[in-house]
Amino acid sequence: MPSEKVLVTGGAGFIGSHLVPALVSMGHEVRVLDNLSPQIHGALPQGLGWLEGNGIGFVRGSVCDRAVLTAALKGVDAVVHLAAETGTGQSMYEVSRYSEVNVGGTANLLDVLTNEPGLQVKRVVLASSRSIYGEGAYVCETCADGLRHAPDPRSPEELAAHRWEPVCPACGWALAAVPTRESDAVKPASIYAATKYAQEDLVRIGCSSLGIGYVILRLQNVYGEGQSLNNPYTGILSIFSTRVRRGLHLPIFEDGLETRDFVHVEDVANAFISGLTSAEPANCVINVGSGERTTVLEIATHLSEAFGAPPDLKTTAQFRVGDIRHNCADIGRLNAILEYSPKVTLAEGMQRFASWVKTQDLPEDRLDKANEELRARKLMG
Ligand SMILES: NC(=O)c1ccc[n+]([C@@H]2O[C@H](COP(=O)([O-])OP(=O)(O)OC[C@H]3O[C@@H](n4cnc5c(N)ncnc54)[C@H](O)[C@@H]3O)[C@@H](O)[C@H]2O)c1
Repeated sequence: MPSEKVLVTGGAGFIGSHLVPALVSMGHEVRVLDNLSPQIHGALPQGLGWLEGNGIGFVRGSVCDRAVLTAALKGVDAVVHLAAETGTGQSMYEVSRYSEVNVGGTANLLDVLTNEPGLQVKRVVLASSRSIYGEGAYVCETCADGLRHAPDPRSPEELAAHRWEPVCPACGWALAAVPTRESDAVKPASIYAATKYAQEDLVRIGCSSLGIGYVILRLQNVYGEGQSLNNPYTGILSIFSTRVRRGLHLPIFEDGLETRDFVHVEDVANAFISGLTSAEPANCVINVGSGERTTVLEIATHLSEAFGAPPDLKTTAQFRVGDIRHNCADIGRLNAILEYSPKVTLAEGMQRFASWVKTQDLPEDRLDKANEELRARKLMG
């Protein structure tokens, strides 16, 4: 791709802090539009020196502000839309805020692209989320009938009875999770997921009608250097790293055998670059993950070891309503269409994350407060 002008909304955040410098180093001119949300950046944002100079144009403002967004889009060839509220649990009781920023901000982007004259955007790359799949894809190894199941969210009653695994509707035995494909059923189970799916629809329909190419990336659990250590609503590794540094035990929800697909932020930034630059990706939806499944017990152990601390894990059998049991991406399309394969192994990524965390101020441990908020709303048991 020749040098282009790229607008990255939410570019001051975790993924943006890796993507924006990478784009600049490739010779692109980058503009960042970010409102420096206090939940992410604190009341007095710090550590954003990298946004100054290096050819990065920084605009402090909201994607929901039409005038600001219109000005930010002037002369831009491509948009990476990252700006969003991202806490799954918090979204369940801050419904309007999540909808206004995630759905409203994306609608605003498409409205401006549709109605403002003189814009020249040719491609939009959206950060979507694996959360839109809900529980994702499962098969029944007992029935062995080859069917792919998309179980409903586990009910509070099932969770309270510690029936953690989704079960087969035919035989009642536990289903087995398999890597979820982009063509599998979509079943958002949280307000956050619903807003991410709405973003996808808006981008797919709006860009198609405008003749703008789009790439929708469904990100798995992204981790790595630069992730917010202050936001108690997202990021199991942030929450756990603070507790390890404070010498506190790591509380493990359910039985600890729930699994996640952890993908390092450098690989995610590279997937965005492929989405922006590859010749034939336009108008597609692509999973971005490692393609590997890791249990929460394993990740907590890896993290403790990366800090040189003996793992102090307490499986609590507590649960959060809306949490999924397993997730793992089928990354065939990432490999085939974007010609990208994740490079950072979990062991290397965990070491890099722990080394970076040690250079950061020690945050307060806000896990109990966040859990209290969920409990008060009957979203945790
Ligand atoms: N990190 C993950 O594990 C993950 C997983 C799936 C999807 N995603 C998606 O990737 C995107 C980026 O995630 P991240 O991890 O970098 O999050 P982040 O919270 O670190 O960054 C988001 C950025 O958006 C900014 N922002 C929030 N509201 C805004 C608004 N109204 N206008 C302008 N800027 C605003 C914040 O200040 C922040 O800098 C999000 O859309 C998120 O839904 C992330």
